[in-house]
Amino acid sequence: MKKIGIFYGSSTGVTADVAQLIAKDLGVADVDIHDVAKSSPSDVAQYDVLVLGSSTWGAGDLQDDWYDFIDGLEALDLKGKEIAIFGCGDESMSDTFCGAVGEIYKRLQGTGAKFIAPFDASVYTFDESPAFIDGVYVGLLLDEVNHPELSDERIKEWTDKIKSEI
Ligand SMILES: Cc1cc2nc3c(=O)[nH]c(=O)nc-3n(C[C@H](O)[C@H](O)[C@H](O)COP(=O)(O)O)c2cc1C
Repeated sequence: MKKIGIFYGSSTGVTADVAQLIAKDLGVADVDIHDVAKSSPSDVAQYDVLVLGSSTWGAGDLQDDWYDFIDGLEALDLKGKEIAIFGCGDESMSDTFCGAVGEIYKRLQGTGAKFIAPFDASVYTFDESPAFIDGVYVGLLLDEVNHPELSDERIKEWTDKIKSEI
C-alpha cells in the first residue's frame, strides 16, 4: 500500500480544516498531516504520494508559509512520487481563482514527480484560474468563502479519484 502524506499551508485555518477532511477520506493518520510552516521539505521523503494544499493570497499567490517550503521541494528529486494538489480560494477574485494550485504545479515540474487527480472546477463562477493548465484544472479547487456547501461532495469525489489513480 502506498504511503500518503498531506502538506498544507493555511493563514486563517480554512485549508487546514480541508486537509483534515481529505485525510479522513483517504485514511491518512494525524501524524501524516503536515503544516508546511512547521515542516522541512525533506519530510516528504517517507511518502509515495504527496497531497499538497495551499490557499491563495495576494493576487494569485501562494499562502505565505509555502514560499520557503516550495523552494526546498523544487530542488529535490521526487521521481517515483505522485503529487495531488488542492487549494482554497474565492471565486470573486475572478482572474486569480486558486492561483496557488497552478503555482505549485508549475514550480514542481522539474522534480520528476507524476501529477495526478486533476478535477473540474467549472461549478464556480470566475473568469480565469491560473490552475487551469493545458485544458485541465490541475487539482481540487474549493471555495469555502462562497460555496462551502459544495466542498464535502467534491472532496469525496476527488479523494476517490486519488484512490483510483494510485
Ligand atoms: C487579501 C486576500 C487576498 C486573496 N487573494 C485571493 C486570490 O488571489 N485568489 C483566490 O482564489 N482567493 C484569494 N483569497 C481568498 C482566500 O484564499 C480564502 O479566503 C481562503 O479560504 C483562505 O484560506 P486559509 O485560511 O487556509 O489561508 C484572498 C483572500 C484575502 C483576504
